[in-house]
Amino acid sequence: MNSLLIRNGTVVTATDQYPGDVLVRDEKVVAIADSLDERADRVIDAAGCYLFPGGIDAHTHMELPFMGTFASDTFHSGTLAGLHGGTTTIVDFAIQTQGDSLESAIQEWHRKADGHAVGDYAFHCAVTDFNDNTRAEIPRVINEHGINSFKTFMAYKGALMVDDRQMFELMKELVKHGGIITTHAENGDMVDHLVQKFLAEGKTEPRYHVLSRPPICEAEASGRAIDLAWQAGCPLYIVHMTCEESLARVRQATLRNQKVHTETCVQYLLLDESLYFQDGFEGAKVVMSPPLRKKKDQEALWAGINQNLVHHVATDHCPFCTDQKEMGIDNFSKIPNGAPGIENRFELMYSEGVDQERISLNKFVEVTSTTAAKIFGLFPRKGTIAVGSDADIVVFDPELEHTISAETHHMNVDYSAYEGWKVRGKCRSTILRGQVVIDDGVAQVEEGYGQYLPRGPFKVRY
Ligand code: URP
Ligand code: ZN
Ligand code: ZN
Repeated sequence: MNSLLIRNGTVVTATDQYPGDVLVRDEKVVAIADSLDERADRVIDAAGCYLFPGGIDAHTHMELPFMGTFASDTFHSGTLAGLHGGTTTIVDFAIQTQGDSLESAIQEWHRKADGHAVGDYAFHCAVTDFNDNTRAEIPRVINEHGINSFKTFMAYKGALMVDDRQMFELMKELVKHGGIITTHAENGDMVDHLVQKFLAEGKTEPRYHVLSRPPICEAEASGRAIDLAWQAGCPLYIVHMTCEESLARVRQATLRNQKVHTETCVQYLLLDESLYFQDGFEGAKVVMSPPLRKKKDQEALWAGINQNLVHHVATDHCPFCTDQKEMGIDNFSKIPNGAPGIENRFELMYSEGVDQERISLNKFVEVTSTTAAKIFGLFPRKGTIAVGSDADIVVFDPELEHTISAETHHMNVDYSAYEGWKVRGKCRSTILRGQVVIDDGVAQVEEGYGQYLPRGPFKVRY
């Protein structure tokens, strides 16, 4: 039996903060006390450090086939970068190819991940073609594949988008079997119209990406998804919410006692739309959908976190290298949508969130780990430090400063949207199921160490 004793740290969960020693045997936490006088195979002195639950990023796209290319991180490289940055679990999207089954998408995602991921992983299933065959697959996806969250895209017309009827019927089906709908909320028809209009006017630069996806386009779709979910009685999780107008729709829903689960991403809290208006093709690096917004939207999102209207901060990690972005050099609508972030999320949320006093230490844990575990059925195995939970622990030095750079990051992408940013607080070591996988900054993990995490039907857990 392997054992590990982490001494002298400060344990921080979504609700507590206390000095404590943590004893781990094999993969689990077996004891926490103010002082443990136990023998262990290894002892880590965490004096001056916080012990956080391993980060959970509930929105990633490893090796996603998209817009004529593939996201540049594999499950191996992407989850390794995540471990460096304190994220021990991801939830990636197994995306149905239109005309094909959910089963084949799930098999395909297992082929990419199993035996390769070094962090733990679960899947959402993205339904891009809801028909009688797909409908019949739902119970099996939930009960046999352990996937309870189903994504719909309200944009990407002609590729991934579903119409309202498909989405509503999927919601009704999920109610029967214990699923939650997650949705990319943008009005795909409005986007399509604006894209064609700009291209017809010869407007092809990256800035037209943001101009073709105004906030109302997201807010309208968010409101529609909220109304459809209300009528269907289906739990709803809105992914990558970016703006004040969408948040207002969520707030409005609370007035009729509807609970809407929402996610934003770290880039929407920290970067703004001025990046699209840089010279040349530079703006392509942050072409993602929905696009970055204004500073007032960042403020609204931080406030939404503190008002319990925004529940999780993910990344939508979907990296493309510069040469891939150049597929859209003459046409902004051909720039692969997505950006890297998995390695930076946790440390940026600490530095810009806790250190800058925008959020509390407990809120930091809540939005980077605990609530995602609760929504998606991973809690209490994941998302907290407690006796019986997986020993997924980040030994975090709040004083250690570092500078983000593509030269030193571990993501398989040749730029960073945060190049040169100074960050206060760093993951010193990362422990996943009792194994020190990042040891003082050095990776110590075999390819394939990551485990698939099947989940039960959706239940309200917070
Ligand atoms: O631009 C983005 N967000 N790319 C990834 C796919 C998606 O919409 O989540
Ligand atoms: Zn999306
Ligand atoms: Zn995404």
